[in-house]
Amino acid sequence: RRVVVLISGNGSNLQALIDAQTHDELGGEIVAVISNEPDAYGLQRARDAGIDAVVLPHREYESRDAYDGALIKVIERHEPDLIVLAGFMRILSPRFVQRFLGRMLNIHPSLLPAYQGLNTHARALADGVTEHGCSVHFVTEELDGGPVALQAAVAVADDETKASLKQKVHAREHLIYPIAVKWFLEGRLQLGAEGVTFDGQPL
Ligand code: GRF
Repeated sequence: RRVVVLISGNGSNLQALIDAQTHDELGGEIVAVISNEPDAYGLQRARDAGIDAVVLPHREYESRDAYDGALIKVIERHEPDLIVLAGFMRILSPRFVQRFLGRMLNIHPSLLPAYQGLNTHARALADGVTEHGCSVHFVTEELDGGPVALQAAVAVADDETKASLKQKVHAREHLIYPIAVKWFLEGRLQLGAEGVTFDGQPL
């Protein structure tokens, strides 16, 4: 089973997926990592692991549609079973989402549906929530709004800072993303007409 990972930055979630693959715990192979940012550190992580690292800079395309068309081509060349968004900081066009519907996952640093969008940790802290976390979800046309597949929660301490909360949540991301990818590749996690199913049961 073949996985393509899309990144824009540091790629610590990519690293968690690479580590799982190294330990034979991913259920498939990362065949390419694609970044829209030429300087993304995750590209180096890919190269260090012997994975094809592709730069596709969005600035070189005149429109979102042109960029997404080019991205679809690069992705399909690798014939993936699953596309994993791991800190890919681009809004995807409906055409792109439709093309890969049901086989594209994203990870978001909040307990969705709470705190869609950016600055999730600061907003959660400002609201004084006692619980925060991260979610793996299928990608649909609604930004950060696709059906949730797996979540991990953390307790928010009284003296929690944005940095400490971010670190806690990141550690959980690295735990749950490889698991969700494995479940998908094993056919256990699916997006059906009625939403997400696990082992054939609605979540
Ligand atoms: C993570 O916080 C993830 O939830 C969000 O982007 C960040 C990516 O971090 N979608 P990294 O590049 O994997 O370190």
